[in-house]
Amino acid sequence: TNALTILGIESSCDETAAAVLRLEDGKVTLLSDVIHTQLEEHAPYQGVVPEIAARAHAEIADRTVAAAMREAGIGYDALDGVAATSGPGLIGGVLVGMMTGKAIAQAAGKPFIAVNHLEGHALSPRLGGDCAFPYLLLLVSGGHCQFLEVRGLGQYKRLGSTIDDAVGEAFDKTAKLLGLGFPGGPAVERLAKTGNPKAFDFPRPLMNRPGLDMSFAGLKTAVARAAAEAPLTEERLADLCASFQAAVCDVLAGKARRALEAFDPGEGESLRFVLAGGVASNKAIRTALEAEAKAFGGELFAPPLRHCTDNAAMIALVGAERMAAGGIEGIGDLGAGARPR
Ligand code: KG4
Ligand code: ZN
Repeated sequence: TNALTILGIESSCDETAAAVLRLEDGKVTLLSDVIHTQLEEHAPYQGVVPEIAARAHAEIADRTVAAAMREAGIGYDALDGVAATSGPGLIGGVLVGMMTGKAIAQAAGKPFIAVNHLEGHALSPRLGGDCAFPYLLLLVSGGHCQFLEVRGLGQYKRLGSTIDDAVGEAFDKTAKLLGLGFPGGPAVERLAKTGNPKAFDFPRPLMNRPGLDMSFAGLKTAVARAAAEAPLTEERLADLCASFQAAVCDVLAGKARRALEAFDPGEGESLRFVLAGGVASNKAIRTALEAEAKAFGGELFAPPLRHCTDNAAMIALVGAERMAAGGIEGIGDLGAGARPR
Protein backbone atom coordinates (compact mmCIF):
# COMPACT_ATOMS: atom_id res chain seq x y z
CA THR A 1 0.00 0.00 0.00
CA ASN A 2 1.02 3.63 -0.21
CA ALA A 3 0.53 4.62 3.42
CA LEU A 4 2.39 7.64 4.74
CA THR A 5 2.95 8.44 8.40
CA ILE A 6 3.84 12.06 9.10
CA LEU A 7 4.71 13.98 12.26
CA GLY A 8 3.38 17.55 12.16
CA ILE A 9 4.50 20.45 14.36
CA GLU A 10 2.71 23.81 14.80
CA SER A 11 4.08 26.76 16.81
CA SER A 12 3.30 29.94 14.88
CA CYS A 13 1.15 31.69 17.47
CA ASP A 14 0.13 30.70 21.00
CA GLU A 15 -0.45 26.98 20.54
CA THR A 16 2.36 24.44 20.74
CA ALA A 17 1.05 21.38 18.92
CA ALA A 18 2.26 18.05 17.54
CA ALA A 19 0.33 15.34 15.74
CA VAL A 20 0.99 12.06 13.97
CA LEU A 21 -1.17 11.42 10.93
CA ARG A 22 -1.50 8.49 8.58
CA LEU A 23 -2.65 8.97 5.01
CA GLU A 24 -3.54 5.77 3.20
CA ASP A 25 -5.24 5.80 -0.19
CA GLY A 26 -6.67 9.22 0.54
CA LYS A 27 -7.99 8.18 3.94
CA VAL A 28 -6.86 10.18 6.97
CA THR A 29 -6.25 8.59 10.38
CA LEU A 30 -5.02 10.69 13.30
CA LEU A 31 -2.74 8.60 15.49
CA SER A 32 -2.28 11.48 17.92
CA ASP A 33 -3.21 15.15 18.12
CA VAL A 34 -1.64 17.07 21.01
CA ILE A 35 -2.37 20.77 21.52
CA HIS A 36 -0.95 22.83 24.35
CA THR A 37 -2.47 26.29 24.47
CA GLN A 38 -0.67 29.17 26.18
CA LEU A 39 -3.85 31.10 27.02
CA GLU A 40 -2.96 31.26 30.70
CA GLU A 41 0.48 32.70 30.02
CA HIS A 42 -0.94 35.54 27.91
CA ALA A 43 -4.21 36.27 29.73
CA PRO A 44 -2.73 38.86 32.15
CA TYR A 45 -1.65 40.96 29.11
CA GLN A 46 -5.01 40.65 27.30
CA GLY A 47 -3.26 39.49 24.15
CA VAL A 48 -0.48 37.28 22.80
CA VAL A 49 2.99 38.56 23.83
CA PRO A 50 5.58 37.36 21.24
CA GLU A 51 8.48 36.98 23.71
CA ILE A 52 6.38 34.98 26.14
CA ALA A 53 5.11 32.81 23.28
CA ALA A 54 8.64 32.09 22.00
CA ARG A 55 9.88 31.11 25.45
CA ALA A 56 6.86 28.89 26.11
CA HIS A 57 7.28 27.13 22.74
CA ALA A 58 10.98 26.53 23.47
CA GLU A 59 10.16 25.12 26.89
CA ILE A 60 7.53 22.61 25.80
CA ALA A 61 8.16 21.80 22.12
CA ASP A 62 10.21 18.67 22.85
CA ARG A 63 7.72 17.40 25.41
CA THR A 64 4.78 18.05 23.08
CA VAL A 65 6.41 16.10 20.25
CA ALA A 66 7.35 13.27 22.61
CA ALA A 67 3.76 13.10 23.85
CA ALA A 68 2.44 12.91 20.27
CA MET A 69 4.86 10.09 19.40
CA ARG A 70 4.07 8.20 22.60
CA GLU A 71 0.33 8.50 21.98
CA ALA A 72 0.77 7.32 18.40
CA GLY A 73 2.73 4.37 19.74
CA ILE A 74 5.50 4.55 17.14
CA GLY A 75 9.17 5.49 17.00
CA TYR A 76 10.79 8.11 14.75
CA ASP A 77 12.01 5.36 12.42
CA ALA A 78 8.38 4.55 11.55
CA LEU A 79 7.82 8.07 10.17
CA ASP A 80 7.92 8.88 6.46
CA GLY A 81 8.50 12.58 7.05
CA VAL A 82 8.40 15.47 9.49
CA ALA A 83 6.38 18.61 8.71
CA ALA A 84 6.54 21.92 10.58
CA THR A 85 4.99 25.35 10.10
CA SER A 86 7.53 27.65 8.46
CA GLY A 87 5.32 30.77 8.59
CA PRO A 88 3.55 33.07 8.54
CA GLY A 89 3.52 33.68 12.27
CA LEU A 90 5.48 34.98 15.23
CA ILE A 91 9.10 34.38 14.25
CA GLY A 92 10.30 33.10 17.65
CA GLY A 93 7.74 30.33 17.78
CA VAL A 94 8.14 29.41 14.11
CA LEU A 95 11.90 29.02 14.60
CA VAL A 96 11.40 26.71 17.58
CA GLY A 97 9.02 24.46 15.65
CA MET A 98 11.24 24.34 12.56
CA MET A 99 14.41 23.58 14.50
CA THR A 100 12.65 20.84 16.41
CA GLY A 101 11.27 19.33 13.21
CA LYS A 102 14.53 19.60 11.27
CA ALA A 103 16.52 18.03 14.09
CA ILE A 104 14.19 15.04 14.26
CA ALA A 105 14.11 14.68 10.48
CA GLN A 106 17.87 14.79 10.21
CA ALA A 107 18.51 12.42 13.11
CA ALA A 108 15.96 9.92 11.78
CA GLY A 109 17.05 10.33 8.16
CA LYS A 110 13.58 11.39 7.00
CA PRO A 111 12.57 14.25 4.72
CA PHE A 112 11.60 17.56 6.31
CA ILE A 113 8.57 19.42 4.93
CA ALA A 114 8.20 23.18 5.47
CA VAL A 115 4.48 24.00 5.61
CA ASN A 116 2.75 27.33 5.13
CA HIS A 117 0.39 27.84 8.07
CA LEU A 118 -2.38 29.16 5.83
CA GLU A 119 -2.16 26.08 3.63
CA GLY A 120 -2.74 24.08 6.81
CA HIS A 121 -5.92 26.02 7.54
CA ALA A 122 -6.95 25.75 3.90
CA LEU A 123 -6.79 21.93 4.00
CA SER A 124 -8.06 21.54 7.59
CA PRO A 125 -11.64 20.61 6.56
CA ARG A 126 -10.17 17.53 4.84
CA LEU A 127 -9.12 16.08 8.20
CA GLY A 128 -12.74 15.03 8.62
CA GLY A 129 -12.64 13.01 5.42
CA ASP A 130 -15.91 14.27 3.92
CA CYS A 131 -14.80 17.53 2.31
CA ALA A 132 -13.63 16.93 -1.23
CA PHE A 133 -12.02 19.53 -3.51
CA PRO A 134 -13.04 22.07 -4.68
CA TYR A 135 -14.46 24.40 -2.05
CA LEU A 136 -14.83 28.01 -1.12
CA LEU A 137 -13.16 28.81 2.20
CA LEU A 138 -13.67 31.64 4.66
CA LEU A 139 -10.81 31.63 7.16
CA VAL A 140 -11.58 33.77 10.20
CA SER A 141 -9.27 33.75 13.22
CA GLY A 142 -7.37 36.15 15.45
CA GLY A 143 -4.69 36.60 12.83
CA HIS A 144 -6.35 35.80 9.52
CA CYS A 145 -9.45 36.88 7.68
CA GLN A 146 -9.74 35.87 4.05
CA PHE A 147 -11.77 34.18 1.34
CA LEU A 148 -9.92 31.46 -0.57
CA GLU A 149 -10.79 29.28 -3.49
CA VAL A 150 -9.38 25.79 -2.87
CA ARG A 151 -9.36 23.70 -6.08
CA GLY A 152 -6.84 21.05 -5.07
CA LEU A 153 -3.50 20.53 -3.38
CA GLY A 154 -1.41 23.63 -4.11
CA GLN A 155 -4.27 25.27 -5.99
CA TYR A 156 -5.31 28.16 -3.79
CA LYS A 157 -6.50 31.54 -4.88
CA ARG A 158 -7.01 34.37 -2.43
CA LEU A 159 -10.20 36.12 -3.37
CA GLY A 160 -10.16 38.85 -0.74
CA SER A 161 -8.99 39.61 2.77
CA THR A 162 -9.25 42.17 5.52
CA ILE A 163 -7.46 45.42 4.82
CA ASP A 164 -6.93 46.07 8.56
CA ASP A 165 -7.97 43.93 11.57
CA ALA A 166 -8.86 40.23 11.41
CA VAL A 167 -12.36 39.38 12.68
CA GLY A 168 -11.11 37.63 15.82
CA GLU A 169 -8.88 40.62 16.49
CA ALA A 170 -11.93 42.90 16.27
CA PHE A 171 -13.73 40.67 18.79
CA ASP A 172 -10.67 40.74 21.08
CA LYS A 173 -10.23 44.52 20.86
CA THR A 174 -13.93 45.11 21.44
CA ALA A 175 -13.85 42.83 24.48
CA LYS A 176 -10.77 44.61 25.79
CA LEU A 177 -12.30 48.07 25.55
CA LEU A 178 -15.46 46.81 27.23
CA GLY A 179 -13.38 45.19 29.98
CA LEU A 180 -14.43 41.63 29.15
CA GLY A 181 -11.00 39.95 29.19
CA PHE A 182 -9.04 37.80 26.72
CA PRO A 183 -9.79 36.02 24.44
CA GLY A 184 -12.69 38.27 23.67
CA GLY A 185 -14.69 36.27 21.15
CA PRO A 186 -16.45 33.89 23.55
CA ALA A 187 -17.11 36.70 26.08
CA VAL A 188 -18.67 38.98 23.46
CA GLU A 189 -20.79 36.13 22.10
CA ARG A 190 -22.04 35.24 25.59
CA LEU A 191 -23.13 38.81 26.36
CA ALA A 192 -24.59 39.32 22.88
CA LYS A 193 -27.15 36.59 23.61
CA THR A 194 -29.10 38.80 25.99
CA GLY A 195 -28.57 42.09 24.13
CA ASN A 196 -30.54 43.90 21.46
CA PRO A 197 -28.70 43.71 18.10
CA LYS A 198 -30.54 46.83 16.89
CA ALA A 199 -29.72 49.00 19.92
CA PHE A 200 -26.74 50.57 18.12
CA ASP A 201 -26.49 51.22 14.42
CA PHE A 202 -22.84 50.31 13.87
CA PRO A 203 -21.21 50.67 10.44
CA ARG A 204 -20.90 47.75 8.00
CA PRO A 205 -17.51 48.70 6.48
CA LEU A 206 -17.01 47.84 2.78
CA MET A 207 -20.14 45.67 2.83
CA ASN A 208 -21.71 47.19 -0.23
CA ARG A 209 -18.47 47.64 -2.15
CA PRO A 210 -17.67 45.23 -4.93
CA GLY A 211 -14.97 42.66 -4.27
CA LEU A 212 -14.23 40.50 -1.24
CA ASP A 213 -11.96 42.73 0.80
CA MET A 214 -13.14 43.41 4.34
CA SER A 215 -12.45 45.96 7.06
CA PHE A 216 -13.15 45.76 10.78
CA ALA A 217 -11.06 48.50 12.40
CA GLY A 218 -13.77 51.16 11.99
CA LEU A 219 -16.34 48.92 13.63
CA LYS A 220 -14.25 48.59 16.77
CA THR A 221 -13.76 52.39 16.83
CA ALA A 222 -17.53 52.88 16.60
CA VAL A 223 -18.02 50.56 19.57
CA ALA A 224 -15.39 52.52 21.52
CA ARG A 225 -17.20 55.79 20.80
CA ALA A 226 -20.59 54.39 21.81
CA ALA A 227 -19.13 52.83 24.97
CA ALA A 228 -17.71 56.19 26.08
CA GLU A 229 -21.06 57.96 25.85
CA ALA A 230 -22.87 56.51 28.86
CA PRO A 231 -22.11 54.36 31.91
CA LEU A 232 -21.60 50.70 31.01
CA THR A 233 -24.53 49.03 32.72
CA GLU A 234 -24.97 45.31 32.27
CA GLU A 235 -27.78 45.91 29.80
CA ARG A 236 -25.82 48.47 27.79
CA LEU A 237 -22.84 46.09 27.59
CA ALA A 238 -25.07 43.35 26.23
CA ASP A 239 -26.57 45.73 23.66
CA LEU A 240 -23.11 46.87 22.53
CA CYS A 241 -21.97 43.24 22.12
CA ALA A 242 -25.13 42.21 20.28
CA SER A 243 -24.97 45.20 17.94
CA PHE A 244 -21.28 44.64 17.25
CA GLN A 245 -21.81 40.95 16.52
CA ALA A 246 -24.77 41.74 14.25
CA ALA A 247 -22.58 44.10 12.22
CA VAL A 248 -19.88 41.42 11.87
CA CYS A 249 -22.49 38.85 10.79
CA ASP A 250 -23.93 41.22 8.21
CA VAL A 251 -20.53 42.01 6.71
CA LEU A 252 -19.44 38.35 6.55
CA ALA A 253 -22.81 37.24 5.17
CA GLY A 254 -22.81 40.02 2.57
CA LYS A 255 -19.32 39.12 1.40
CA ALA A 256 -20.11 35.39 1.49
CA ARG A 257 -23.07 36.06 -0.82
CA ARG A 258 -20.74 37.75 -3.32
CA ALA A 259 -18.19 34.95 -3.03
CA LEU A 260 -20.81 32.21 -3.48
CA GLU A 261 -22.25 34.02 -6.47
CA ALA A 262 -18.86 34.15 -8.18
CA PHE A 263 -17.59 30.70 -7.18
CA ASP A 264 -17.99 28.02 -9.83
CA PRO A 265 -17.38 24.53 -8.40
CA GLY A 266 -17.34 23.11 -11.91
CA GLU A 267 -19.30 20.54 -13.85
CA GLY A 268 -21.14 18.05 -11.62
CA GLU A 269 -19.54 19.29 -8.38
CA SER A 270 -21.67 20.31 -5.42
CA LEU A 271 -21.19 23.67 -3.78
CA ARG A 272 -19.09 23.40 -0.61
CA PHE A 273 -18.49 26.41 1.61
CA VAL A 274 -16.04 25.93 4.49
CA LEU A 275 -15.79 28.11 7.59
CA ALA A 276 -12.53 27.70 9.51
CA GLY A 277 -10.49 29.54 12.17
CA GLY A 278 -11.25 30.26 15.83
CA VAL A 279 -14.13 32.61 14.99
CA ALA A 280 -15.94 29.67 13.34
CA SER A 281 -17.04 28.67 16.83
CA ASN A 282 -19.34 31.71 16.94
CA LYS A 283 -22.89 30.39 16.68
CA ALA A 284 -24.42 33.56 15.21
CA ILE A 285 -21.78 33.73 12.48
CA ARG A 286 -22.18 30.04 11.69
CA THR A 287 -25.95 30.41 11.41
CA ALA A 288 -25.68 33.47 9.16
CA LEU A 289 -23.23 31.75 6.81
CA GLU A 290 -25.16 28.50 6.79
CA ALA A 291 -28.17 30.44 5.51
CA GLU A 292 -26.08 31.98 2.71
CA ALA A 293 -24.71 28.60 1.62
CA LYS A 294 -28.23 27.12 1.61
CA ALA A 295 -29.60 30.05 -0.40
CA PHE A 296 -27.16 29.07 -3.16
CA GLY A 297 -28.01 25.37 -2.92
CA GLY A 298 -24.74 24.64 -1.18
CA GLU A 299 -23.62 23.20 2.12
CA LEU A 300 -21.64 24.81 4.93
CA PHE A 301 -18.80 22.75 6.38
CA ALA A 302 -17.28 23.82 9.68
CA PRO A 303 -14.54 21.51 10.95
CA PRO A 304 -14.73 20.59 14.65
CA LEU A 305 -13.41 23.48 16.71
CA ARG A 306 -10.25 21.56 17.58
CA HIS A 307 -9.25 21.71 13.91
CA CYS A 308 -10.58 25.23 13.27
CA THR A 309 -8.11 26.75 15.71
CA ASP A 310 -4.37 26.22 15.38
CA ASN A 311 -3.37 22.56 15.45
CA ALA A 312 -0.63 20.26 14.15
CA ALA A 313 -2.92 17.74 12.46
CA MET A 314 -3.54 20.17 9.59
CA ILE A 315 0.23 20.72 9.22
CA ALA A 316 0.85 16.96 9.11
CA LEU A 317 -1.94 16.63 6.52
CA VAL A 318 -0.32 19.17 4.19
CA GLY A 319 2.97 17.28 4.55
CA ALA A 320 1.31 13.94 3.82
CA GLU A 321 -0.66 15.23 0.83
CA ARG A 322 2.45 16.86 -0.63
CA MET A 323 4.47 13.65 -0.21
CA ALA A 324 1.66 11.53 -1.63
CA ALA A 325 1.58 13.79 -4.68
CA GLY A 326 5.32 13.23 -5.14
CA GLY A 327 6.26 16.77 -4.22
CA ILE A 328 8.91 15.84 -1.64
CA GLU A 329 12.16 14.11 -2.56
CA GLY A 330 15.42 13.36 -0.75
CA ILE A 331 15.85 15.42 2.38
CA GLY A 332 12.88 17.60 1.42
CA ASP A 333 12.90 21.23 2.51
CA LEU A 334 15.73 20.93 5.02
CA GLY A 335 17.21 24.17 3.72
CA ALA A 336 13.98 26.15 4.09
CA GLY A 337 13.99 29.22 6.32
CA ALA A 338 11.38 30.62 8.70
CA ARG A 339 9.13 33.36 7.31
CA PRO A 340 7.30 35.76 9.62
CA ARG A 341 4.99 37.03 6.82
O1 KG4 B 1 -7.73 30.29 15.18
P1 KG4 B 1 -7.46 30.89 16.49
O2 KG4 B 1 -7.47 29.99 17.71
O3 KG4 B 1 -6.05 31.56 16.56
C1 KG4 B 1 -5.51 32.31 15.53
O4 KG4 B 1 -4.84 31.73 14.66
O5 KG4 B 1 -5.74 33.52 15.58
O6 KG4 B 1 -8.51 32.06 16.70
C2 KG4 B 1 -8.58 32.80 17.88
C3 KG4 B 1 -9.54 33.93 17.67
C4 KG4 B 1 -9.52 34.94 18.81
O7 KG4 B 1 -9.44 36.22 18.26
C5 KG4 B 1 -10.86 34.69 19.50
O8 KG4 B 1 -11.38 35.84 20.13
C6 KG4 B 1 -11.73 34.24 18.36
O9 KG4 B 1 -10.89 33.43 17.58
N1 KG4 B 1 -12.90 33.51 18.84
C7 KG4 B 1 -14.17 33.92 18.69
C8 KG4 B 1 -14.99 32.97 19.36
N2 KG4 B 1 -14.16 32.02 19.91
C9 KG4 B 1 -12.90 32.36 19.57
N3 KG4 B 1 -14.69 34.97 18.07
C10 KG4 B 1 -16.02 35.11 18.09
N4 KG4 B 1 -16.86 34.28 18.73
C11 KG4 B 1 -16.40 33.20 19.38
N5 KG4 B 1 -17.23 32.37 20.01
ZN1 ZN C 1 -3.94 30.03 12.45
